[in-house]
Amino acid sequence: MAGITDWPFRLRCQECGADELVTEMVSAMGLLQAPSDSRAYQHLLAFHERERNLTIQLFGHQPDIMAGAAARVSLLPQYKGIDLNFGCPAPKVTGSGSGSALMKNLARSEQIIRAVRKATAKPLSVKMRIGWDSNHINAVDFAKMCEAAGADSLCVHGRTRQQQYAGRADWGVIAQVKQAVSIPVIANGDVFTPQNVQVLLNQTGADGIAVGRGALGNPWLFGQIKQVLRGEEPSTPSAEEILKTALSHLQDMVSFKGEHWALIEMRKHFAWYLKGTHGAAATRAQINTIDSLDKLLAILEQHFDKLEA
Ligand SMILES: Cc1cc2nc3c(=O)[nH]c(=O)nc-3n(C[C@H](O)[C@H](O)[C@H](O)COP(=O)(O)O)c2cc1C
Repeated sequence: MAGITDWPFRLRCQECGADELVTEMVSAMGLLQAPSDSRAYQHLLAFHERERNLTIQLFGHQPDIMAGAAARVSLLPQYKGIDLNFGCPAPKVTGSGSGSALMKNLARSEQIIRAVRKATAKPLSVKMRIGWDSNHINAVDFAKMCEAAGADSLCVHGRTRQQQYAGRADWGVIAQVKQAVSIPVIANGDVFTPQNVQVLLNQTGADGIAVGRGALGNPWLFGQIKQVLRGEEPSTPSAEEILKTALSHLQDMVSFKGEHWALIEMRKHFAWYLKGTHGAAATRAQINTIDSLDKLLAILEQHFDKLEA
């Protein structure tokens, strides 16, 4: 998730049970053109040595540029695979014909996948939606094209571009995709509780699931999903565990971006970690005005002490 899945967050997800990690989407053109000392690209490519099974996601619309970027990142040992973004709905991405706009252009999408396939021997996956809008649901044809062009796996977000993130994800179309191709299909969309994963897997026959928003402030969801799939009761993190995880996240963010930016970046994460806890709104308001790490730690400890009491 752009603006969210940097290594401090990915590490929390991995520690809590995520088997595979994906970077934020990275512009293929930006990557090729950025000077080697570009902070923005250093940050986008940053990883932690403890991360495992990390895939980098690229976006763009020009086959040669996508292939060039894929060749470049293929040399970086931290990435197990390359994922191509055919799902982003943001106008600034689709406006240039990238992201989910590619679902309207099968010929161009095929050229991109074929070019990237030639440029890398690493596992190649495609992140897609089910179509552009409700009148153009073409996930099955698109998925077949991806397979024929050389993709090793697909991740299908069960919404159209028109839906953005609203409405319900259509797991039925994901099931149709699974039926239509023989490469692994990962189902995505609306996994917020461990309990609905079994339903998603049963309905789609998918080979795995991808979680986005459900993990915000709740990386424990990954472990809980595994517990439920093993037939166990999912365990709920204690207030102490939530605080410990939030503090490790903060500490990693400070070492990643420095204290000033960490305090700003972590505001949204703390809002998510605090969500649903007693007094969250007041604590969040305090955190949003804080300008020192010490004050932030004091506020957090006070909030979670109260919860435990
Ligand atoms: C803030 C935000 C940023 C996102 N950025 C990306 C991205 O960079 N690449 C991508 O493939 N999907 C991105 N997504 C989409 C999610 O990966 C996922 O497909 C979508 O949210 C549906 O899954 P969920 O219901 O589990 O969240 C983003 C979603 C959100 C909310």
